[in-house]
Amino acid sequence: MAVPDGIVTNDDLSATLDTTDEWIFERTGIRERRVGGSAGSLGLAAATAALADAGLAATDIDFVLLATTTPDNLIPATAPTIAANLGIRAPAMDLNAACSGFMYALRVAEGLTATGVGRILVIGAENLSRWTDWNDRTMAVLLGDGAGACVVEASTGPSDVLAFDLGSEGDYAHLLSCEHGGTIWMDGKEVFRRAVRIMVDSAERAMSQAQVSADQLSLVIPHQANIRIIQAACQRLGVPMERAVVVLDRYGNTSSASIPLAVADARSQQRVHPGDLVLMTGFGAGMTWASAVVRWSK
Ligand code: COA
Repeated sequence: MAVPDGIVTNDDLSATLDTTDEWIFERTGIRERRVGGSAGSLGLAAATAALADAGLAATDIDFVLLATTTPDNLIPATAPTIAANLGIRAPAMDLNAACSGFMYALRVAEGLTATGVGRILVIGAENLSRWTDWNDRTMAVLLGDGAGACVVEASTGPSDVLAFDLGSEGDYAHLLSCEHGGTIWMDGKEVFRRAVRIMVDSAERAMSQAQVSADQLSLVIPHQANIRIIQAACQRLGVPMERAVVVLDRYGNTSSASIPLAVADARSQQRVHPGDLVLMTGFGAGMTWASAVVRWSK
């Protein structure tokens, strides 16, 4: 993972906005967020860390997939630049499924392994601060910058990915959007309402497909948008909050980076062990959603 050094606390925001640390923490669970860098620079740092952690070199990577809603430019995609900076000359492309982006990228990576691609570097990186109206208290308190990455490897035995559930409902595109050159806008209440239902339904479909029950899950790694969404989803799924990974207090909502940031945190806290069954589930603008049940390998 990689996050910029710049920390913006709730108190920092309340110095310029009509808000308070108490309101933000109670309504969202967020205490502070990181601000700075770019999808390219943060993605590169996270990818470098992932390669080191996996003990792999640039030449071991056959494909680079960057999930982002905030690419450095409209053209070219940011992934080829990250790849070049790593010394990788393999295919590289961006993928945008908003906050579900990292999960969508994992699904694409799994599909690529089925076509004979050996190792895929999957990155989620965001620079949401660039598209945030810092005078809008309803959005500024929610978002942050960051990146996470992993390497997906084809295996000869049964897949460690037991099930995926992905989907979209484009009829609700208007609920969360950002026009070219604009700033991010959201109907928070409606997104909240839909998010809980979408996440629970998707997670249940993935669990049913994997034939895994809630009590068999060692960990739930949800998209980090709002602690109240995570609490409501966990309650409906029958998973105690102690088994949910929460990093939004430190990073806010980092869209495509949120699930890999949470994965990195769970690993650094030794909360996942080989053989554990883990549910990852997210939702985002589009609206999109994606869940996976995986068996942790290492
Ligand atoms: N500080 C203080 N007051 C604020 C505020 C802030 N930062 N933002 C909004 N308010 C005010 C509102 O103006 C409103 O005031 P009013 O009652 O006088 O009209 C009041 O607080 C309640 O606002 P409301 O929007 O009803 O709050 P909420 O409980 O729905 O919480 C969100 C707002 C955005 C935190 C919540 O709706 C949410 O998290 N939505 C989903 C967000 C999400 O998941 N987005 C990412 C999708 S990937």
